[in-house]
Amino acid sequence: MRLILLGAPASGKGTQAAVLTEKFGVPKISTGDMLRAAVKAGTPLGREADTLMKGGKLVPDSVVIGLVEERLKESDAQKGFILDGFPRTVAQAEALDALLKRLGVGLDFIVQIDVPRDLLMERATLRRTDKRTGQIYHLKYSPPPSDADLEHRADDQEETVKKRLDAYDAQTAALLPHYEQLGVLRRVDGVGSPKEVTTRMLSQITG
Ligand code: AP5
Ligand code: MG
Repeated sequence: MRLILLGAPASGKGTQAAVLTEKFGVPKISTGDMLRAAVKAGTPLGREADTLMKGGKLVPDSVVIGLVEERLKESDAQKGFILDGFPRTVAQAEALDALLKRLGVGLDFIVQIDVPRDLLMERATLRRTDKRTGQIYHLKYSPPPSDADLEHRADDQEETVKKRLDAYDAQTAALLPHYEQLGVLRRVDGVGSPKEVTTRMLSQITG
């Protein structure tokens, strides 16, 4: 399975990617998670990304394309992958098309998770993640267990979320026609419980 999850900030890409990665036995490749790991490690890339991410801006295409290119060459990605949060610009989509062509593989599906903007703000600001496991929780919809070691993402403050949503509308929504043309785009209603969304997604991609 080679699949891309597209969707606005906090639409549920990470939540669904965690389920799909188990179901299909392929790795989840999240550029956001990779960049946050670089920020934590304090690498030069992490320091550059930190400022941009805290400002709700995208990291340069060349940086994320390089990260994904390296990651897709690793052995566990040879049998497939779930891409979460990449591509996000037309330049990234074109670089991915070229890379997959060089690797001699194609995409099975691009799944767009649709969630109205007013729900996205609440999903982002009340999100919490377990530092040790990476498990994603929500204080209202997916409450964490009492022993979870929670962190609140630096870019989940209301003002930053607004900027991230604007960046999505300005740069990432433009990818939909690109994938629609290729005939591999599937749209899934992202409103409902995470399980309901998974069921809708699976019915779209497994028939
Ligand atoms: P990234 O980490 O990719 O963030 P994002 O796209 O903004 O998406 P999120 O991770 O915020 O949301 P999600 O869709 O994964 O939702 P989740 O499942 O957590 O990127 C962060 C930053 O890194 C970017 O702003 C940019 O700076 C940089 N970056 C990353 N990739 C880049 C790229 N390719 N190019 C350039 N820059 C890049 O769910 C959200 C919340 O909702 C959780 O609390 C969850 O529990 C809850 N929830 C999930 N599903 C449901 C449901 N069905 N019902 C109720 N609650 C739900
Ligand atoms: Mg995510």
